[in-house]
Amino acid sequence: MPEGCFMYWKVVNGMADLTVKSMEMINPFVVASSPATQGAKNVLKSAKMRPGAIVMRNFGHGSGGGGYFYPGAQAAFRGEPCYHSHAVGRQIPDEVATLEQYCEEVKEARQKLDSDIKLWVSVGHYSDIVKGGDWEKDWIRQAKELSLAGADALELHFNTPGVAVAKDRIFDYYELVRHCTTMIKKAAGPGVKIMVKLAVEGCDVLTSMRIAQSSGADAVGPTARWKAFCMDLDWRRTQPRPGSGYGGTQANPIVAYAVAEARNNGITLPMYAGGGVFSFDQAARFIMAGSEMVQLGALACSGGTMACAKLIRDLSDWMDKAGYSDMESLQGDALTLFNMSGDFAKARQNRLGDAYQAAQVDSAKCVGCGRCEDVCWHEGISIQERKAKKTDKCIGCGYCFQVCPTGALHVPAGDILASAFNK
Ligand SMILES: Cc1cc2nc3c(=O)[nH]c(=O)nc-3n(C[C@H](O)[C@H](O)[C@H](O)COP(=O)(O)O)c2cc1C
Ligand code: SF4
Ligand code: SF4
Repeated sequence: MPEGCFMYWKVVNGMADLTVKSMEMINPFVVASSPATQGAKNVLKSAKMRPGAIVMRNFGHGSGGGGYFYPGAQAAFRGEPCYHSHAVGRQIPDEVATLEQYCEEVKEARQKLDSDIKLWVSVGHYSDIVKGGDWEKDWIRQAKELSLAGADALELHFNTPGVAVAKDRIFDYYELVRHCTTMIKKAAGPGVKIMVKLAVEGCDVLTSMRIAQSSGADAVGPTARWKAFCMDLDWRRTQPRPGSGYGGTQANPIVAYAVAEARNNGITLPMYAGGGVFSFDQAARFIMAGSEMVQLGALACSGGTMACAKLIRDLSDWMDKAGYSDMESLQGDALTLFNMSGDFAKARQNRLGDAYQAAQVDSAKCVGCGRCEDVCWHEGISIQERKAKKTDKCIGCGYCFQVCPTGALHVPAGDILASAFNK
């Protein structure tokens, strides 16, 4: 079997059960609205990775393509710090201009798409609101027609940067979320779910989720992509387009926080978190924070179906190794950690502090570089005769343990914290 086919085969045949039962999805991955989902052709191409759902991109705005990674795409795929922005290269043209054409694309995609992959379809675009006119009537018509065309769900985009740009100018963001969610929920066909994609930046995402939940949304997608101006130091040659669509691995912990906080504060809706997922561990973090599903955005565009299929397979392999048999056991598993009480957190920290304080320098490994002394702000360590030596002033803060390049200062921090946690 060729390697590519084997990869796809393994995704479906891994040991861990990746199905998301509450959403009737074969796995938690949602290929997010982007060039990788523009029109039936790209939806079908994205289907090669066998995701749980694909969101067909809005029609009629035709911008947003290319990807710019710094320091580079490979770093992002390894899960290392990396920013990502829309590139200066040409935008993907949108050949669909009317609702009728868009419905044809949806029909074709639904007809040809494997029946076990959900097709979500984007409704509206913030620029309709900016332009004025009777956008509400248009959106209602879209919701009705797209439901009839075969959409399993309709997605509303209140994510950044478009909304963030528009909201400052002409409308109240929270009111828009409430108004549009209620309106589209009413207009959608029977059984068609309403997915509400929300900005994490520039607003309080917990408030947005509460509003979406009370307005009848079926799922929320907290998504981090900012307005930003990022550049590498070679910017005269490689400056990316400033202002829009900034993401990257650094978005991941921020979105994970938003998910966990929402789970702690009464948000019971399914979530499809998005932002900075380039490797399986980042996807696992969203799920462990409490999200049922995970968006693949920049990875789908810039890594393609092979990188996404690999991510799905890696998640499955890791779940096998880590002892998670299904998505239910993984989902929200980190909330115990997120919710530990202040007292317990302090006790844990103190246990580590005691170990740092008690540990002595392993003179055989010490090369006398002085880094420990340099970062000690408590006169707890000093270099004597080219060897570091602890003093009785050490309070066990741990700075020096982080910088020692040779292991002369070492405590098994992970073991100590874990054993405290299990107690
Ligand atoms: C090139 C590109 C174009 C995008 N265009 C849209 C869009 O038209 N509408 C939308 O709601 N989101 C759009 N997104 C955002 C994605 O749907 C998704 O929410 C986001 O990319 C997830 O973050 P990640 O890229 O860090 O995975 C786009 C993303 C990329 C990378
Ligand atoms: S940082 Fe490590 S190797 Fe360097 S002086 Fe301190 S204990 Fe020795
Ligand atoms: S643990 Fe903190 S106080 Fe103790 S020697 Fe290291 S840096 Fe200094």
